[in-house]
Amino acid sequence: MKVLLLCGSPRKESNTMTALERCAEKIREEGLETEIISLRGMDIKSCRACLTCAKTGECAIDDGLNTIIQKIKESEGFIVGSPVYFGTARGDVMSALQRIGMVSRASDRFLKWKVGGPIAVARRGGQTATIQEMLMFYLINDMIVPGSTYWNILFAWAAGEVEDDKEGIETVEHFGENVAKLIKKIY
Ligand SMILES: Cc1cc2nc3c(=O)[nH]c(=O)nc-3n(C[C@H](O)[C@H](O)[C@H](O)COP(=O)(O)O)c2cc1C
Repeated sequence: MKVLLLCGSPRKESNTMTALERCAEKIREEGLETEIISLRGMDIKSCRACLTCAKTGECAIDDGLNTIIQKIKESEGFIVGSPVYFGTARGDVMSALQRIGMVSRASDRFLKWKVGGPIAVARRGGQTATIQEMLMFYLINDMIVPGSTYWNILFAWAAGEVEDDKEGIETVEHFGENVAKLIKKIY
């Protein structure tokens, strides 16, 4: 069984990536496989509402997202991490989630019962709104989101700074553990 983690930061030295790595470590300790994919270097477009996916089961836009969709299909878990940009998730992250959700809903609802949830990283503010924004994707797609000991929010700006947010790291580590334990119970 596997959990796919998607990192929405465009930065090479990304705090969001570090948070996802720490979360993934705990998932592996529970005996599940993990893979982290980054949107860095990709140029994710917004959904065009062409509804081609209802006929083909794939997104018509050729920007690499179909590869990520295939990996999600092959996983029992799906976690998304985004940096906060002006109080919301990075635009590319929401574009990706909207297209992934559209393909799922218009075809075989492959997101159903996937376990996971969002993680948000910011220098100072906007993490809770960002978590809520990304949660909309999970909750409309019949997915299962476990909790943790706090919301999955972390504070960081400079590269590596997220390691100083001990409570934030512990929160996403515990979240990873919960995702893995829930997957083991229901699959
Ligand atoms: C365009 C832009 C907008 C940002 N907006 C916010 C914001 O609203 N609130 C905040 O606390 N930090 C904001 N930040 C800082 C990032 O959220 C923060 O640096 C975070 O660590 C980025 O994650 P990363 O290291 O994974 O890229 C912004 C950064 C950029 C580039």
